Amino acid sequence: MSAADLRARLAALVEEARQAGRLAELVGAWRELAALAAVPAGPVAARFGIVGDSPRMRAVFELIAKVAPTDVSVLILGETGTGKELVAKALHQHGRRKSKPFLAENCAAVPPNLLESELFGHTKGSFTGAFADRPGHFVAANGGTVFLDEIGDMPLAMQSKLLRVLQEGEVRPVGSNKVLKVDVRIVAATNKDLAAMTKQGTFREDLYFRLNVITIQLPPLRERTGDVRHLVRYFLERVSGEMGRPIGITDEALAALEAWSWPGNVRELENVIRRASVFADGAIVPADLGAPIVPGSEA
Ligand SMILES: Nc1ncnc2c1ncn2[C@@H]1O[C@H](COP(=O)(O)OP(=O)(O)OP(=O)(O)O)[C@@H](O)[C@H]1O
Ligand SMILES: [Mg+2]
Repeated sequence: MSAADLRARLAALVEEARQAGRLAELVGAWRELAALAAVPAGPVAARFGIVGDSPRMRAVFELIAKVAPTDVSVLILGETGTGKELVAKALHQHGRRKSKPFLAENCAAVPPNLLESELFGHTKGSFTGAFADRPGHFVAANGGTVFLDEIGDMPLAMQSKLLRVLQEGEVRPVGSNKVLKVDVRIVAATNKDLAAMTKQGTFREDLYFRLNVITIQLPPLRERTGDVRHLVRYFLERVSGEMGRPIGITDEALAALEAWSWPGNVRELENVIRRASVFADGAIVPADLGAPIVPGSEA
């Protein structure tokens, strides 16, 4: 059939559907087909709930498999959005402590004067606003894991107190003169250069060595060869489920994503897929991706 004939045939079909009141149905079926045809084929490669199949990520998976069942302290390093928190949770969930709590503290988000009480707890009346005894994370997570996120932002005074906990295995709540024995695994993460900070004197070297028994260095997404398409499929499946309509991606749009440098890493990729899915008509096309990934595009 020539292009002109096909166009005429399609126009006739659309008109027929319109007269039958089934135009919406036709458009819906067409969109569904376009989405299905454009989803990158193949299963999503993942381990420990972490998507990836690149040599760099396979090395990370091997390390997780080795250290998760142990109690050693792990320091997770990586740029923003590389999945540090995801790895911390995987270490807990695949270790002996999985039936006990996993408690996370963001050392950069809590004011320094509250951090001690958050981690070690406090007694009633120990400071204004301390209306009752409160256990800190180290006590509440006993038997489990405490995740110290953004450890590079922990004030020096607090670093000394943390070191004592790691050395003695006991905490003293703020305002209390009793020490409590605790058994927690410590996993810490940062996107700062802790080694450089120890040289500048802003991070205690002895604490650094304690936390850093094993380092898991998460590679930036731009160094994970072949992982973008797995992550795209993974996020498309999730977004399709949430939006209740199938969303795919064209080869051109996928190529644009694979060429991008991802300064915000996996979190940025997830955001881009979510935003593009709102604009997409069945399948994400380059124009849905927006600048700077596709310069000059509208979204
Ligand atoms: N390999 C991956 N597979 C699936 N989802 C991922 C992966 N890496 C990261 N994510 C998702 O991307 C988002 C960011 O990950 P996460 O919060 O673990 O990063 P982060 O390194 O802690 O970032 P930040 O330094 O900004 O705190 C989360 O929604 C996480 O679930
Ligand atoms: Mg994080």
